[in-house]
Order: sequence, then C-alpha cells, then structure tokens
Amino acid sequence: MKKILGTTLLAMTLLLPTTTFAAQSEINLPTFNLNGELSVMKALNQRISSRNFIDKDLTAEQLAKILWAANGVNRYDTQKRVNPAALGIYSVEVYAVTREGIYLYDAENHKLKLVAEGDFRSLTTTGQSFVAKAAVNLVYVETPDVWSNARKTLPRDAQISFANISVGAMVQSVALAAQTENLGNCVRGSINRAEFAKVAKLSDGKNILLAQSVGFVN
Ligand SMILES: Cc1cc2nc3c(=O)[nH]c(=O)nc-3n(C[C@H](O)[C@H](O)[C@H](O)COP(=O)(O)O)c2cc1C
Repeated sequence: MKKILGTTLLAMTLLLPTTTFAAQSEINLPTFNLNGELSVMKALNQRISSRNFIDKDLTAEQLAKILWAANGVNRYDTQKRVNPAALGIYSVEVYAVTREGIYLYDAENHKLKLVAEGDFRSLTTTGQSFVAKAAVNLVYVETPDVWSNARKTLPRDAQISFANISVGAMVQSVALAAQTENLGNCVRGSINRAEFAKVAKLSDGKNILLAQSVGFVN
C-alpha cells in the first residue's frame, strides 16, 4: 500500500467482495476515490448524531473510507496520519465491530486483522438497541505501550488526556466521512467495557475511550 492517498486514489486491483469477511484473519482494504465528494463545510452543516440504523452491511470501500478517516495514514513517507496525535505518538487503536467479527485496523498497512469471529456489535453498548443494527461500531482504545518506544514520553495523565483529544478528532473525521456516503453515525461513551475487553482480548493497561456507530439509516 505505497502512497495510497494523493488527491485521487487509484483504483486498486485488490477490491474485495462487499461483505463476506468472516474467517479471514487479514483483510486488505480497498482504496477509494476522493473526487466529487461533499464539501467539508456542507458535511459540517449536516453533522448530526443518528440512532435510526438499519441492519445493512457497508461495502468494502465504505468500510475502508470510514477506517481511514478514523485512523488512516495520509502521508506514507512519514507514516503520519489523518488525525493529529501529541508528539506524533499514535496511542489510539481502532477496532471495527461488524456482523462478521471484531477486527483491529492496521493503519500502516490499511488492513483489518481478525480478533474474534462472530457478531459482537451489541457488546459495544450498555443497552442502546440501535447499536446492534449499525453496520460497524468503532471502538477507540488507548494503547499506552506505544509510549515505551517513544523518543520522548509524557506523564501518564497527559498521555490519557492527549489520547482523548485525538479521539475527538478521530470521531469528527469519521462523522464527516460518513456524511459523504450518506451514512449515519453516533459517538458513544456508553460501552460495555468489561465485556468488550474480554471478547476483544485487550491486554491489561489498554483503555477503552469511546465508541462510534456508523451505518445506513432510515
Ligand atoms: C463524548 C460523547 C459521548 C457520547 N455518548 C453517547 C452515548 O453513549 N449514546 C448516545 O446515544 N449518544 C452519545 N453521544 C451523542 C450526544 O448525545 C449528542 O452528540 C448530543 O445529544 C448532541 O446531538 P447531535 O450530535 O445530534 O448534535 C455522545 C457524544 C459525545 C461527544
């Protein structure tokens, strides 16, 4: 995936079928075209939290777009990303919870890595029923380990605070990207953290910060 993102993304040879992801331990996500999109100002004007999801899967391209907006690389020479992070230390990982399973988004390779097979969408909420219908629920998880390899570190409270600030940028980027596909989104702080951590096999110290439902709406 060298230089996937310029002003125009080249159509990739590796286009996937729309939904049948199950049982693949790694999924190469397709690239997508940035031409002819909604303007940022129009997308901002239309931003809203949606909860009227219908249970319909995204295309591979839509999923790729959402994940790239959430945590993708936009400068392949430096591996820097769409969303800012303090000191350029990307301490927030994004999990994609779909009908097929829980996947970790590998930003550097624009891939999904299967973590658990099965429909665990309802596990990402403490009881809001719309969540189980949203095509994908993103779960934003802080991974403090990345600081151990950093050139410079920060006190733990600053690491957490800056991770939350990055997540704010990430969810807004996803909201705007979703709007370009006429998809709804809802940021959610209400998450069944204990259950999700168990099923997603999160190691000790990982910190679930926020979730975001994205999908087709009525
Ligand atoms: C940090 C944060 C946590 C939120 N948690 C939830 C949540 O758990 N469930 C939910 O339905 N909406 C949640 N929301 C969405 C807010 O309820 C929503 O943004 C607010 O009502 C304003 O509506 P609007 O986004 O349509 O402008 C959350 C928003 C933020 C920023």
